[in-house]
Amino acid sequence: MQPPKVLVTRKWPDNIEKILTKDFDCSFNHQDKPLTPSELKDALKTFDAILSTVTDSLTADILMTKPTQTKIIGNFGVGFNNIDIESAQQQNICVTNTPDVLTDCTADIAILLILMSARRGAEGDRLIRQKRWQGWSPTDMLGQKVTAKTLGIIGFGRIAQATAYKAHFGFNMKIIFYNTSPVPENLTQPVKAHCCGSIDDVLAAADFVSIHCPGSPQNHHLLGEQQLKRMRPNAHLINTARGTLIDTKALVKALQNNWFAGAGLDVFEHEPTIDPALLTLDNVTLLPHLGSATEETRRAMGLRVIDNIKAFFSGQTPRDLIC
Ligand code: DGY
Repeated sequence: MQPPKVLVTRKWPDNIEKILTKDFDCSFNHQDKPLTPSELKDALKTFDAILSTVTDSLTADILMTKPTQTKIIGNFGVGFNNIDIESAQQQNICVTNTPDVLTDCTADIAILLILMSARRGAEGDRLIRQKRWQGWSPTDMLGQKVTAKTLGIIGFGRIAQATAYKAHFGFNMKIIFYNTSPVPENLTQPVKAHCCGSIDDVLAAADFVSIHCPGSPQNHHLLGEQQLKRMRPNAHLINTARGTLIDTKALVKALQNNWFAGAGLDVFEHEPTIDPALLTLDNVTLLPHLGSATEETRRAMGLRVIDNIKAFFSGQTPRDLIC
């Protein structure tokens, strides 16, 4: 029997690509250029499996391509907002993701942004590189203390829980959160997390707000002008989830007018395009979607995709089945 034909849409770590070739007839993208919509449509006609990622927009228009050869989309990433799930279902295409393996590294980036924003890390680095630093002074570059402050978390899934754990045990932070569904006590109790009745309650009480919701259409601009106005004057807003969760125009207005102290962003609404106004602001820390960007995690993500498609092609249910 011929091995299934598999397309890997972006460059993966070398050793993981090698492992994939053992069981599959692979096409790799060694130039690592994101595929165009028409290339993605062609891929759906040609490959049994497409191993996509966050930069591949698998819209309804693309997924409704007929005839379709693709039976599974093994997404390299935990978020799958790049895939129109309804169309995949209509086309009988199975979709999987890669949860768990990137939880810790993404939570590390949330903590990094909390610290960078509160302690003005990126701004200080710019000051030195631009030779503008005049030396230590009692009132220079003052930020906010992190230890023992309140971290407000919106969406209490795996990455949020890991962030809460690191913040609570590493920095003695008090944890409050809002989640749309009830969270079992065994997940909140270790960090003594207090469940708030609404997002507004979190925004009004937190010194740091970290958002961890899926980038679904329902969550588009979950934080807009009205919500941002509720934050405390010394608070910081952290986003390691998806750029679409925050209305960028409203965020720019908030930061320009100092409604709160700062923001730390690892994700953006129209990645890799960044709103030019953000680039002019010193009270925002900008990272290039580094959440899962460690050698260990990217290898683990690749292996997880391989596990999922191997299970699928051997007639089993993949462990990370979305649909
Ligand atoms: C994910 O997994 O959803 C990340 O955003 C990509 O690393």
